[in-house]
Amino acid sequence: MRIYDVIKNKRDGKVLSDEEIKFFVEGYTKGEIKDYQASALLMAIYFQGMNSKETATLTEYIAKSGDEVDLSSIKGIKVDKHSTGGVGDKTTLIVAPIVASCGVPVAKMSGRGLGHTGGTVDKMESIPNMRTTFTQEEFFKIVNDIGISVIGQSGNLAPADKKLYALRDVTATIDNISLISASIMSKKIAAGSDAIVLDIKTGSGAFMKNIDDAIKLAQEMVSIGHHIGRKVIGMITDMDIPLGFAIGNAIEVIESIHTLKGNGPKDLTEVSKVLATNMLYLAEKGSMEECAKMVDEAISSGRAFDKLVQMVKAQGGDINVIIDTDKFEKAKITHEVKATQSGYISHMDTEACGIASVMLGAGRETVDSDIDFSAGIILKAKVGDYVEKGQVIADLLTSSKDKLKESEDKFINSLSWSQHKPSPKPLIYAKVSIDGVKKY
Ligand code: URA
Repeated sequence: MRIYDVIKNKRDGKVLSDEEIKFFVEGYTKGEIKDYQASALLMAIYFQGMNSKETATLTEYIAKSGDEVDLSSIKGIKVDKHSTGGVGDKTTLIVAPIVASCGVPVAKMSGRGLGHTGGTVDKMESIPNMRTTFTQEEFFKIVNDIGISVIGQSGNLAPADKKLYALRDVTATIDNISLISASIMSKKIAAGSDAIVLDIKTGSGAFMKNIDDAIKLAQEMVSIGHHIGRKVIGMITDMDIPLGFAIGNAIEVIESIHTLKGNGPKDLTEVSKVLATNMLYLAEKGSMEECAKMVDEAISSGRAFDKLVQMVKAQGGDINVIIDTDKFEKAKITHEVKATQSGYISHMDTEACGIASVMLGAGRETVDSDIDFSAGIILKAKVGDYVEKGQVIADLLTSSKDKLKESEDKFINSLSWSQHKPSPKPLIYAKVSIDGVKKY
Protein backbone atom coordinates (compact mmCIF):
# COMPACT_ATOMS: atom_id res chain seq x y z
CA MET A 1 0.00 0.00 0.00
CA ARG A 2 1.21 3.55 -0.72
CA ILE A 3 0.21 6.64 1.27
CA TYR A 4 0.05 8.49 -2.06
CA ASP A 5 -2.92 6.32 -3.09
CA VAL A 6 -4.65 6.77 0.27
CA ILE A 7 -4.37 10.56 -0.09
CA LYS A 8 -5.60 10.37 -3.70
CA ASN A 9 -8.57 8.19 -2.76
CA LYS A 10 -9.72 10.60 -0.08
CA ARG A 11 -9.02 13.63 -2.28
CA ASP A 12 -11.34 12.08 -4.86
CA GLY A 13 -14.08 11.55 -2.25
CA LYS A 14 -13.74 7.78 -1.83
CA VAL A 15 -14.48 5.93 1.42
CA LEU A 16 -11.21 4.72 2.97
CA SER A 17 -10.97 1.04 3.86
CA ASP A 18 -10.04 -0.17 7.36
CA GLU A 19 -6.65 -1.24 5.97
CA GLU A 20 -5.96 2.20 4.52
CA ILE A 21 -6.82 3.93 7.82
CA LYS A 22 -4.70 1.44 9.80
CA PHE A 23 -1.81 1.93 7.36
CA PHE A 24 -1.99 5.71 7.78
CA VAL A 25 -2.24 5.78 11.60
CA GLU A 26 0.46 3.16 12.15
CA GLY A 27 2.79 4.58 9.53
CA TYR A 28 2.44 8.15 10.80
CA THR A 29 2.95 7.15 14.46
CA LYS A 30 6.16 5.33 13.53
CA GLY A 31 7.40 8.29 11.48
CA GLU A 32 7.30 6.28 8.23
CA ILE A 33 4.69 8.62 6.79
CA LYS A 34 5.95 12.18 6.64
CA ASP A 35 4.22 15.27 8.02
CA TYR A 36 3.62 16.68 4.52
CA GLN A 37 1.75 13.56 3.43
CA ALA A 38 -0.21 13.34 6.68
CA SER A 39 -1.09 17.04 6.26
CA ALA A 40 -2.36 16.38 2.74
CA LEU A 41 -4.52 13.50 3.95
CA LEU A 42 -5.89 15.56 6.87
CA MET A 43 -6.83 18.34 4.45
CA ALA A 44 -8.48 15.83 2.13
CA ILE A 45 -10.46 14.46 5.10
CA TYR A 46 -11.30 18.05 6.09
CA PHE A 47 -12.88 18.75 2.70
CA GLN A 48 -14.29 15.34 1.78
CA GLY A 49 -15.34 14.22 5.28
CA MET A 50 -15.44 10.70 6.66
CA ASN A 51 -18.50 8.57 7.23
CA SER A 52 -19.30 7.15 10.68
CA LYS A 53 -17.63 3.83 9.93
CA GLU A 54 -14.40 5.52 8.78
CA THR A 55 -14.45 7.80 11.84
CA ALA A 56 -14.94 4.82 14.18
CA THR A 57 -12.05 2.98 12.50
CA LEU A 58 -9.79 6.04 12.72
CA THR A 59 -10.68 6.35 16.42
CA GLU A 60 -9.95 2.68 17.08
CA TYR A 61 -6.49 2.77 15.49
CA ILE A 62 -5.53 6.04 17.20
CA ALA A 63 -6.60 4.50 20.55
CA LYS A 64 -4.51 1.40 19.78
CA SER A 65 -1.42 3.44 18.85
CA GLY A 66 -0.15 3.40 22.46
CA ASP A 67 -0.97 2.17 25.95
CA GLU A 68 -4.54 1.26 26.77
CA VAL A 69 -5.38 1.57 30.45
CA ASP A 70 -7.16 -1.40 31.99
CA LEU A 71 -9.26 -0.08 34.87
CA SER A 72 -10.76 -3.47 35.71
CA SER A 73 -8.81 -3.67 38.98
CA ILE A 74 -10.87 -0.72 40.20
CA LYS A 75 -14.25 -1.93 41.40
CA GLY A 76 -17.49 -0.41 40.12
CA ILE A 77 -18.62 1.30 36.94
CA LYS A 78 -15.98 3.88 36.02
CA VAL A 79 -17.45 7.00 34.44
CA ASP A 80 -15.29 9.59 32.72
CA LYS A 81 -16.16 13.13 31.71
CA HIS A 82 -14.64 15.19 28.95
CA SER A 83 -15.12 18.78 27.91
CA THR A 84 -14.38 19.83 24.36
CA GLY A 85 -12.74 22.92 25.85
CA GLY A 86 -13.77 26.33 27.02
CA VAL A 87 -12.94 29.48 28.96
CA GLY A 88 -13.40 29.43 32.74
CA ASP A 89 -14.39 25.77 32.41
CA LYS A 90 -13.38 24.30 35.75
CA THR A 91 -16.18 21.73 35.96
CA THR A 92 -13.89 18.68 36.36
CA LEU A 93 -12.64 20.07 39.69
CA ILE A 94 -16.24 20.21 40.90
CA VAL A 95 -17.88 17.26 39.18
CA ALA A 96 -15.18 14.65 39.92
CA PRO A 97 -15.29 15.09 43.75
CA ILE A 98 -19.12 15.20 43.72
CA VAL A 99 -19.35 11.94 41.77
CA ALA A 100 -16.63 10.23 43.84
CA SER A 101 -18.33 11.30 47.07
CA CYS A 102 -21.46 9.49 45.82
CA GLY A 103 -19.51 6.22 45.59
CA VAL A 104 -18.63 6.18 41.87
CA PRO A 105 -14.89 5.74 41.31
CA VAL A 106 -13.27 8.50 39.26
CA ALA A 107 -9.98 7.53 37.60
CA LYS A 108 -9.52 10.45 35.28
CA MET A 109 -6.80 11.62 32.96
CA SER A 110 -7.08 15.27 32.08
CA GLY A 111 -5.33 17.61 29.70
CA ARG A 112 -3.48 20.89 29.78
CA GLY A 113 -4.62 24.17 28.30
CA LEU A 114 -4.97 24.25 24.54
CA GLY A 115 -4.99 27.53 22.61
CA HIS A 116 -7.41 29.90 24.30
CA THR A 117 -8.94 27.14 26.46
CA GLY A 118 -7.79 26.12 29.93
CA GLY A 119 -6.84 22.63 31.11
CA THR A 120 -7.56 20.81 34.38
CA VAL A 121 -3.97 19.65 34.89
CA ASP A 122 -2.63 23.22 34.75
CA LYS A 123 -5.29 24.33 37.23
CA MET A 124 -4.45 21.47 39.62
CA GLU A 125 -0.74 22.31 39.46
CA SER A 126 -1.52 25.76 40.88
CA ILE A 127 -2.03 23.94 44.21
CA PRO A 128 1.44 23.92 45.83
CA ASN A 129 3.18 20.50 45.57
CA MET A 130 0.20 18.87 43.83
CA ARG A 131 1.39 15.96 41.70
CA THR A 132 -0.33 15.13 38.42
CA THR A 133 2.06 12.41 37.25
CA PHE A 134 1.89 8.93 38.76
CA THR A 135 2.71 5.39 37.78
CA GLN A 136 -0.32 3.32 36.86
CA GLU A 137 0.00 1.37 40.13
CA GLU A 138 0.08 4.57 42.22
CA PHE A 139 -2.88 5.96 40.26
CA PHE A 140 -4.95 2.80 40.82
CA LYS A 141 -3.99 2.70 44.51
CA ILE A 142 -5.23 6.25 45.09
CA VAL A 143 -8.52 5.47 43.34
CA ASN A 144 -8.96 2.25 45.28
CA ASP A 145 -8.13 4.01 48.59
CA ILE A 146 -10.18 7.19 48.29
CA GLY A 147 -12.31 6.73 45.15
CA ILE A 148 -10.78 9.52 43.10
CA SER A 149 -7.65 10.60 41.27
CA VAL A 150 -7.25 13.12 38.47
CA ILE A 151 -3.88 13.04 36.76
CA GLY A 152 -2.25 14.15 33.51
CA GLN A 153 -2.47 11.97 30.46
CA SER A 154 0.07 9.13 30.55
CA GLY A 155 2.96 9.73 28.15
CA ASN A 156 2.07 6.94 25.78
CA LEU A 157 -1.72 7.30 25.68
CA ALA A 158 -2.85 7.62 22.04
CA PRO A 159 0.53 8.91 20.74
CA ALA A 160 -0.94 9.08 17.23
CA ASP A 161 -3.35 11.73 18.49
CA LYS A 162 -0.51 13.74 20.01
CA LYS A 163 1.23 13.87 16.62
CA LEU A 164 -1.93 14.39 14.61
CA TYR A 165 -3.24 17.06 16.96
CA ALA A 166 -0.01 19.06 16.72
CA LEU A 167 -0.13 18.77 12.93
CA ARG A 168 -3.81 19.80 12.76
CA ASP A 169 -3.04 22.78 14.97
CA VAL A 170 -0.68 24.21 12.32
CA THR A 171 -2.52 23.10 9.17
CA ALA A 172 -5.97 24.61 9.87
CA THR A 173 -7.56 21.16 10.21
CA ILE A 174 -8.74 21.29 13.84
CA ASP A 175 -12.41 22.13 13.40
CA ASN A 176 -13.58 19.03 11.57
CA ILE A 177 -16.19 16.83 13.25
CA SER A 178 -14.63 13.47 12.29
CA LEU A 179 -11.14 14.56 13.31
CA ILE A 180 -12.25 16.06 16.64
CA SER A 181 -14.40 12.99 17.41
CA ALA A 182 -11.56 10.58 16.69
CA SER A 183 -9.12 12.71 18.69
CA ILE A 184 -11.29 12.91 21.81
CA MET A 185 -12.81 9.43 21.71
CA SER A 186 -9.50 7.66 21.05
CA LYS A 187 -8.10 9.15 24.28
CA LYS A 188 -11.25 8.32 26.23
CA ILE A 189 -11.22 4.73 24.96
CA ALA A 190 -7.52 4.31 25.75
CA ALA A 191 -8.14 5.77 29.24
CA GLY A 192 -10.40 2.80 29.95
CA SER A 193 -13.68 4.05 31.50
CA ASP A 194 -16.93 2.12 31.05
CA ALA A 195 -19.04 5.19 30.38
CA ILE A 196 -18.38 8.78 29.36
CA VAL A 197 -20.26 12.06 29.75
CA LEU A 198 -19.14 14.52 27.10
CA ASP A 199 -19.54 18.23 27.70
CA ILE A 200 -19.71 19.63 24.20
CA LYS A 201 -19.28 23.35 24.35
CA THR A 202 -20.84 25.66 21.82
CA GLY A 203 -20.49 29.40 21.26
CA SER A 204 -17.81 32.02 20.78
CA GLY A 205 -15.40 30.40 23.27
CA ALA A 206 -15.76 26.86 21.91
CA PHE A 207 -14.29 25.01 18.94
CA MET A 208 -17.89 24.38 17.77
CA LYS A 209 -19.29 27.85 17.26
CA ASN A 210 -22.91 26.82 16.56
CA ILE A 211 -25.38 24.41 18.14
CA ASP A 212 -26.04 22.32 15.02
CA ASP A 213 -22.34 21.51 14.64
CA ALA A 214 -22.08 20.75 18.37
CA ILE A 215 -25.00 18.31 18.05
CA LYS A 216 -23.39 16.66 15.00
CA LEU A 217 -20.12 16.31 16.94
CA ALA A 218 -22.00 14.79 19.89
CA GLN A 219 -23.85 12.34 17.62
CA GLU A 220 -20.59 11.23 16.05
CA MET A 221 -18.95 10.61 19.42
CA VAL A 222 -22.02 8.86 20.89
CA SER A 223 -22.07 6.62 17.82
CA ILE A 224 -18.36 5.77 18.19
CA GLY A 225 -19.00 4.86 21.84
CA HIS A 226 -21.90 2.64 20.80
CA HIS A 227 -19.76 0.85 18.17
CA ILE A 228 -17.16 -0.07 20.77
CA GLY A 229 -19.56 -0.90 23.60
CA ARG A 230 -19.16 2.14 25.84
CA LYS A 231 -22.09 4.20 27.06
CA VAL A 232 -21.72 7.82 25.98
CA ILE A 233 -23.93 10.85 26.62
CA GLY A 234 -23.20 14.24 25.07
CA MET A 235 -24.46 17.37 26.83
CA ILE A 236 -24.44 20.47 24.65
CA THR A 237 -23.63 23.38 26.95
CA ASP A 238 -23.08 27.07 26.45
CA MET A 239 -19.63 28.57 25.93
CA ASP A 240 -20.74 31.87 24.46
CA ILE A 241 -19.97 33.45 27.84
CA PRO A 242 -17.07 32.41 30.12
CA LEU A 243 -18.24 29.93 32.76
CA GLY A 244 -18.23 31.48 36.25
CA PHE A 245 -16.25 34.65 36.96
CA ALA A 246 -12.68 33.30 37.16
CA ILE A 247 -10.47 32.65 34.10
CA GLY A 248 -7.02 31.37 35.03
CA ASN A 249 -5.60 28.62 37.21
CA ALA A 250 -5.40 29.26 41.00
CA ILE A 251 -8.41 31.57 40.76
CA GLU A 252 -10.39 28.81 39.03
CA VAL A 253 -9.46 26.34 41.77
CA ILE A 254 -10.73 28.88 44.32
CA GLU A 255 -14.01 29.31 42.42
CA SER A 256 -14.38 25.51 42.24
CA ILE A 257 -13.96 25.28 46.01
CA HIS A 258 -16.69 27.90 46.54
CA THR A 259 -18.93 25.92 44.18
CA LEU A 260 -18.26 22.64 45.98
CA LYS A 261 -19.27 24.40 49.19
CA GLY A 262 -22.52 25.54 47.59
CA ASN A 263 -21.48 29.18 47.11
CA GLY A 264 -20.44 29.14 43.46
CA PRO A 265 -21.68 31.21 40.53
CA LYS A 266 -25.10 30.16 39.25
CA ASP A 267 -24.01 29.14 35.74
CA LEU A 268 -21.03 27.09 36.91
CA THR A 269 -23.10 25.40 39.61
CA GLU A 270 -25.88 24.47 37.17
CA VAL A 271 -23.58 23.03 34.48
CA SER A 272 -21.55 21.10 37.09
CA LYS A 273 -24.68 19.63 38.67
CA VAL A 274 -26.07 18.54 35.30
CA LEU A 275 -22.80 16.82 34.35
CA ALA A 276 -22.47 15.12 37.76
CA THR A 277 -26.10 13.95 37.63
CA ASN A 278 -25.56 12.37 34.21
CA MET A 279 -22.37 10.67 35.38
CA LEU A 280 -24.19 9.13 38.36
CA TYR A 281 -26.99 8.07 36.04
CA LEU A 282 -24.55 6.31 33.69
CA ALA A 283 -23.01 4.65 36.75
CA GLU A 284 -26.51 3.24 37.42
CA LYS A 285 -26.96 5.05 40.72
CA GLY A 286 -30.67 5.65 40.12
CA SER A 287 -33.14 7.65 38.05
CA MET A 288 -32.16 11.13 36.85
CA GLU A 289 -34.22 12.63 39.69
CA GLU A 290 -32.54 10.43 42.29
CA CYS A 291 -29.10 11.24 40.89
CA ALA A 292 -29.84 14.99 40.92
CA LYS A 293 -30.82 14.68 44.59
CA MET A 294 -27.59 12.82 45.39
CA VAL A 295 -25.60 15.63 43.77
CA ASP A 296 -27.39 18.28 45.88
CA GLU A 297 -26.78 16.26 49.03
CA ALA A 298 -23.11 15.72 48.20
CA ILE A 299 -22.69 19.50 48.09
CA SER A 300 -24.91 20.49 51.03
CA SER A 301 -23.44 17.84 53.36
CA GLY A 302 -19.86 18.95 52.61
CA ARG A 303 -18.96 15.42 51.39
CA ALA A 304 -17.98 16.62 47.93
CA PHE A 305 -15.64 19.26 49.34
CA ASP A 306 -14.11 16.69 51.73
CA LYS A 307 -13.46 14.44 48.73
CA LEU A 308 -11.50 17.20 47.01
CA VAL A 309 -9.42 17.67 50.17
CA GLN A 310 -8.73 13.91 50.26
CA MET A 311 -7.67 13.93 46.61
CA VAL A 312 -5.34 16.90 47.04
CA LYS A 313 -3.77 15.23 50.08
CA ALA A 314 -3.35 11.89 48.30
CA GLN A 315 -1.66 13.62 45.37
CA GLY A 316 0.81 15.46 47.60
CA GLY A 317 -0.86 18.89 47.38
CA ASP A 318 -0.99 21.45 50.17
CA ILE A 319 -4.48 21.16 51.68
CA ASN A 320 -4.01 24.40 53.64
CA VAL A 321 -4.77 26.42 50.49
CA ILE A 322 -7.90 24.35 49.86
CA ILE A 323 -9.16 24.86 53.41
CA ASP A 324 -8.24 28.56 53.43
CA THR A 325 -8.14 29.84 49.86
CA ASP A 326 -6.62 33.16 50.99
CA LYS A 327 -3.38 31.21 51.32
CA PHE A 328 -3.04 30.80 47.53
CA GLU A 329 -0.19 32.92 46.23
CA LYS A 330 -1.53 36.22 44.89
CA ALA A 331 -0.61 37.85 41.59
CA LYS A 332 1.84 40.75 41.97
CA ILE A 333 -0.24 43.08 39.82
CA THR A 334 -4.02 43.64 39.90
CA HIS A 335 -5.23 45.95 37.18
CA GLU A 336 -8.82 47.16 37.15
CA VAL A 337 -10.54 47.30 33.75
CA LYS A 338 -13.14 50.05 33.57
CA ALA A 339 -16.17 50.15 31.29
CA THR A 340 -15.58 52.39 28.27
CA GLN A 341 -19.28 53.24 28.04
CA SER A 342 -22.56 52.87 29.90
CA GLY A 343 -24.97 50.15 28.84
CA TYR A 344 -25.70 46.46 28.92
CA ILE A 345 -22.96 44.02 27.99
CA SER A 346 -24.72 42.26 25.12
CA HIS A 347 -22.01 39.79 24.04
CA MET A 348 -18.53 38.65 24.99
CA ASP A 349 -16.20 37.16 22.42
CA THR A 350 -15.26 34.38 24.81
CA GLU A 351 -12.32 33.12 22.75
CA ALA A 352 -10.84 36.65 22.95
CA CYS A 353 -11.35 36.64 26.75
CA GLY A 354 -9.42 33.35 26.88
CA ILE A 355 -6.62 34.83 24.78
CA ALA A 356 -6.50 37.92 27.04
CA SER A 357 -6.02 35.58 30.01
CA VAL A 358 -3.26 33.66 28.18
CA MET A 359 -1.51 37.00 27.52
CA LEU A 360 -1.47 37.66 31.27
CA GLY A 361 0.44 34.39 31.75
CA ALA A 362 -2.44 32.02 32.59
CA GLY A 363 -1.83 29.90 29.47
CA ARG A 364 0.98 29.01 27.12
CA GLU A 365 1.96 31.19 24.16
CA THR A 366 4.34 28.44 23.00
CA VAL A 367 4.45 24.73 23.90
CA ASP A 368 7.21 25.23 26.45
CA SER A 369 6.14 28.52 28.07
CA ASP A 370 5.79 28.50 31.86
CA ILE A 371 2.40 29.25 33.35
CA ASP A 372 1.89 32.01 35.91
CA PHE A 373 -0.56 30.18 38.17
CA SER A 374 -1.83 33.32 39.87
CA ALA A 375 -2.53 35.14 36.58
CA GLY A 376 -5.92 35.49 34.93
CA ILE A 377 -9.09 37.51 34.84
CA ILE A 378 -11.77 37.97 37.48
CA LEU A 379 -14.91 39.15 35.76
CA LYS A 380 -16.99 41.69 37.65
CA ALA A 381 -19.71 41.91 35.00
CA LYS A 382 -20.96 39.53 32.33
CA VAL A 383 -23.47 39.45 29.49
CA GLY A 384 -26.81 40.89 30.60
CA ASP A 385 -25.33 43.20 33.27
CA TYR A 386 -25.84 46.97 33.08
CA VAL A 387 -22.70 48.95 33.90
CA GLU A 388 -21.90 52.66 34.10
CA LYS A 389 -18.99 54.13 32.17
CA GLY A 390 -15.92 53.95 34.42
CA GLN A 391 -17.29 51.07 36.53
CA VAL A 392 -14.83 48.23 37.15
CA ILE A 393 -15.82 45.31 34.93
CA ALA A 394 -12.83 43.00 35.49
CA ASP A 395 -9.59 42.60 37.40
CA LEU A 396 -6.58 41.51 35.35
CA LEU A 397 -4.10 39.55 37.46
CA THR A 398 -0.51 39.07 36.38
CA SER A 399 3.09 39.07 37.51
CA SER A 400 4.38 40.98 34.53
CA LYS A 401 3.41 44.29 32.96
CA ASP A 402 4.71 43.18 29.54
CA LYS A 403 1.41 42.27 27.97
CA LEU A 404 -0.98 43.99 30.36
CA LYS A 405 -2.01 46.73 27.92
CA GLU A 406 -2.38 44.25 25.04
CA SER A 407 -4.48 41.97 27.24
CA GLU A 408 -6.66 44.86 28.44
CA ASP A 409 -7.27 45.96 24.83
CA LYS A 410 -8.13 42.40 23.83
CA PHE A 411 -10.57 42.09 26.73
CA ILE A 412 -12.24 45.46 26.12
CA ASN A 413 -12.58 44.72 22.40
CA SER A 414 -14.20 41.36 23.22
CA LEU A 415 -17.25 43.17 24.62
CA SER A 416 -20.32 44.30 22.70
CA TRP A 417 -22.73 46.83 24.16
CA SER A 418 -26.43 47.60 23.89
CA GLN A 419 -28.92 49.97 25.45
CA HIS A 420 -31.37 47.04 25.72
CA LYS A 421 -31.05 44.12 28.08
CA PRO A 422 -30.20 41.03 26.01
CA SER A 423 -32.50 38.08 26.55
CA PRO A 424 -30.85 35.36 28.64
CA LYS A 425 -29.61 32.27 26.80
CA PRO A 426 -29.93 28.71 28.05
CA LEU A 427 -26.92 27.05 29.67
CA ILE A 428 -27.84 23.56 28.53
CA TYR A 429 -29.04 23.23 24.95
CA ALA A 430 -29.44 19.52 24.37
CA LYS A 431 -28.66 16.00 25.47
CA VAL A 432 -27.48 13.55 22.83
CA SER A 433 -27.60 9.84 23.52
CA ILE A 434 -27.93 6.72 21.42
CA ASP A 435 -31.72 7.18 21.74
CA GLY A 436 -31.59 10.55 19.98
CA VAL A 437 -31.36 14.28 20.62
CA LYS A 438 -33.38 15.87 23.41
CA LYS A 439 -33.40 19.67 23.10
CA TYR A 440 -34.04 21.84 26.19
N1 URA B 1 -9.93 18.35 22.09
C1 URA B 1 -9.23 17.27 21.68
O1 URA B 1 -8.74 16.48 22.47
N2 URA B 1 -9.11 17.06 20.34
C2 URA B 1 -9.65 17.89 19.42
O2 URA B 1 -9.51 17.63 18.25
C3 URA B 1 -10.36 19.03 19.88
C4 URA B 1 -10.50 19.24 21.23
